[in-house]
Amino acid sequence: MKAIVFHGVGDIRLEDVAEPRIEAPTDAVVRLSASAICGTDLHIIRGTLPGMKPGTILGHEGVGIVEEVGGNVRNLRDGDRVVIPSTVGCGYCSYCRAGYYACCDVANPNGPQAGTVYFGSPEDGGSLHGLQAERARIPFAGVGLVKLPEAVTDDQAIMLSDIFPTGYFAAILAEIKPGDTVAVWGCGPVGQFAVASCRLLGAGRIFAVDGVPSRLEMARAQGAEIVNYNEEDPVEVIQAMTGGIGVDRAIDAVGVDSEKPQRGPAARHLKKEERHFAEEVETVAPRQAGGSAFHPGNAPSLAVEWAIAALAKAGTLSIVGVYPEAMRFFPLGTAMGKNLTLKMGSCNHRRYIPHLLALVQSGVVDPTQILTQVEPLTDAIEAYKAFDQRQPGWMKVELEPILA
Ligand SMILES: NC(=O)c1ccc[n+]([C@@H]2O[C@H](COP(=O)([O-])OP(=O)(O)OC[C@H]3O[C@@H](n4cnc5c(N)ncnc54)[C@H](O)[C@@H]3O)[C@@H](O)[C@H]2O)c1
Ligand SMILES: [Zn+2]
Ligand SMILES: [Zn+2]
Repeated sequence: MKAIVFHGVGDIRLEDVAEPRIEAPTDAVVRLSASAICGTDLHIIRGTLPGMKPGTILGHEGVGIVEEVGGNVRNLRDGDRVVIPSTVGCGYCSYCRAGYYACCDVANPNGPQAGTVYFGSPEDGGSLHGLQAERARIPFAGVGLVKLPEAVTDDQAIMLSDIFPTGYFAAILAEIKPGDTVAVWGCGPVGQFAVASCRLLGAGRIFAVDGVPSRLEMARAQGAEIVNYNEEDPVEVIQAMTGGIGVDRAIDAVGVDSEKPQRGPAARHLKKEERHFAEEVETVAPRQAGGSAFHPGNAPSLAVEWAIAALAKAGTLSIVGVYPEAMRFFPLGTAMGKNLTLKMGSCNHRRYIPHLLALVQSGVVDPTQILTQVEPLTDAIEAYKAFDQRQPGWMKVELEPILA
């Protein structure tokens, strides 16, 4: 079968790989009808999320048809149409039972202290093969997979695999209460769903910050007050528009590949931090790709720095943008001085999917507003490059496996 395979930093390929098979009685094999490209995949390919073994299939977002189940998958059968949660939990450890699927004690072959298990992951995520393929093996399938009603399309369901739950998780971590003023940093697919989720939880005002006009416009269409960091200093604007108080809640939907502004007042204000950011990049991305694509961000800590600077005293910072272990730069003193609450982590997808699926099915949310491209899996490398470069109009990219 065809799949997108990681070979090294900056090097991904469309290849023929072995078909997956049932390896444990709790496994299923799913034939993918849709997959997608995520910002997390970009971190892996840019070298800012290290530890990916060459030969691992990429991708952690998927929708498909169950083809085969192991003997201990009792709630599903072949032919069932399902959405695949990005993270994998066993369903029986104390963490999974409490809804912390991303903290599962059992699913990671590296042991209970290892990281969240997800499809298409580096070593500390379990090195599980990913979903940008024609088929995939799904561990603990009876726990993770969620059956889809016929009325929900693949284009809608693929958003429920990772990014809608993650945006919602970000809003939950941010402790959004009705009336709150929020700043969402980063208007990629995750940031868009963070905006949508803040609205669902009753936020009063939502600021959305990015440097890409087409992405900002999509946030504005959702009702967010947009700030382009290439035109204005986002911290100054947010302070000024909140009576000098700042926002109650902030969400980091950027992660380690955070960028410096290219021009404008914010670029001038950051001139003196140039050396500091260069050191950060050296630390988080010692190995980088040559060529024109898949370069790490040039200011790893900037989104968090700005988010903290624009928060009100006693506010809450929610971080869902991904950072690697090497990321040790954090404005702790400023956060301390403001009595901030910090919450962060990997989404517990399975916990939120049924609720969000109901919102989609009932028409409360149409997640396809965020979907801008549907490409055949065979064109995935070019699609990856366009998404990497944040080309105008390239927001969320769905991949359709072409089946023989
Ligand atoms: N925690 C989780 O479970 C989870 C799940 C999915 C994705 N993620 C992470 O969420 C993040 C966003 O994912 P995505 O798919 O939307 O990626 P993306 O790369 O498309 O989006 C990032 C956005 O941030 C913007 N940006 C860059 N520097 C910025 C800055 N200094 N200030 C404000 N905005 C800035 C970029 O222009 C881009 O639009 C990634 O880090 C991804 O790994 C986390
Ligand atoms: Zn993702
Ligand atoms: Zn578990």
